[in-house]
Amino acid sequence: MGLCPSMLRVSRRGKYVMALLLCASALAWLTANMGDTVKAVTEYTPAPVPERALLEATPSGRKSKAPCPEISPLLHGVLTLSFEPSLTMKEVASENSVVAGGQYQPPECTARQSVAILVPQRSREKHLLYLLHHLHPFLQRQQFHYAIYVIQQAGDAKFNRAKLLNVGYLEALKDHNWDCFIFHDVDLVPEDDRNLYMCDSQPKHMVVGRNATGYKLRYKGYFGGVTALTKDQFKRVNGFSNTYWGWGGEDDDLRIRVELQGMKIVRPPPEVARYTMVFHKRDSGNQVNNDRMRLLRRTAQVWKQDGLNSCSYKTLSVERLPLYVNVTVDIGTPSGH
Ligand SMILES: *[C@@H]1O[C@H](CO)[C@@H](O)[C@H](O)[C@H]1NC(C)=O
Ligand SMILES: *[C@@H]1O[C@H](CO)[C@@H](O)[C@H](O)[C@H]1NC(C)=O
Repeated sequence: MGLCPSMLRVSRRGKYVMALLLCASALAWLTANMGDTVKAVTEYTPAPVPERALLEATPSGRKSKAPCPEISPLLHGVLTLSFEPSLTMKEVASENSVVAGGQYQPPECTARQSVAILVPQRSREKHLLYLLHHLHPFLQRQQFHYAIYVIQQAGDAKFNRAKLLNVGYLEALKDHNWDCFIFHDVDLVPEDDRNLYMCDSQPKHMVVGRNATGYKLRYKGYFGGVTALTKDQFKRVNGFSNTYWGWGGEDDDLRIRVELQGMKIVRPPPEVARYTMVFHKRDSGNQVNNDRMRLLRRTAQVWKQDGLNSCSYKTLSVERLPLYVNVTVDIGTPSGH
């Protein structure tokens, strides 16, 4: 779609929302007037990815390529998601043969950001498969340089999402100096590829709505599910707290850290920041954390000592699989704190 970028150029001084509205009405007009040719814009089947030959033809010319456009011409908009019970990792890998070691760079231009997607996980292999199936082509269409890291908690202590994400940040920085980190729940699949997986000048919360909550923000100040912080924003808040074991609280704790630094949470327009939550029961090992209210009252006092700078863990293995890097880690137990 060459139309949207040129319309955006015209309204550069206007707000992002205004530009999106223009695009949306242009698309609506096109849909109404052009019938079948435009249907492909709104209907999604996992897209064929750019050809490997292209990638290999320009190994050294990479730096001199023009920057990718502000709005990728490859975006589809609203996607039709599928959750086939028979889907296999092998199928997803063969659909994404341009991804190696979980990583991808657009062959056609120089990406505007390098983005590490961090997914904390334990015994959610099916959810992970659905997420990879949708996220890889989604990110390729957004033309970012990206890698997906799955941070697997070893052992059967209560799940600690926040600490796993701290580990993911520290481990991913050993591979590359990422500009941007996306902290991503394994069971949330984005429904619209105009929800750009890149960082902003302020910490960004990407999940305004999900099908499970009627596409409404869960509560004012909600900062969970999927968030995007630059390397420096995350460092400034000393990352997440390491002390939240079990479900809940750690995302509110991060919001408090962000606010203490005078930063302001931004969100994409609600019509694009939509997710499907793949159904599941709460896992054993991830019971509600009843201590979370007490912990949240002390965030302002402890954030400087509790976070990235106090995150102790033991890396058990780093497997570079075709579609993701599997970092398996021993993060200790609640009593060890
Ligand atoms: C949201 O969509 C997923 C996938 O289609 C489905 O499994 C789940 O039950 C839906 N949740 C609600 C509350 O509609
Ligand atoms: C990650 O690696 C560990 C150790 O080899 C393995 O037990 C686990 O199943 C792997 N997880 C994923 C999601 O690949």
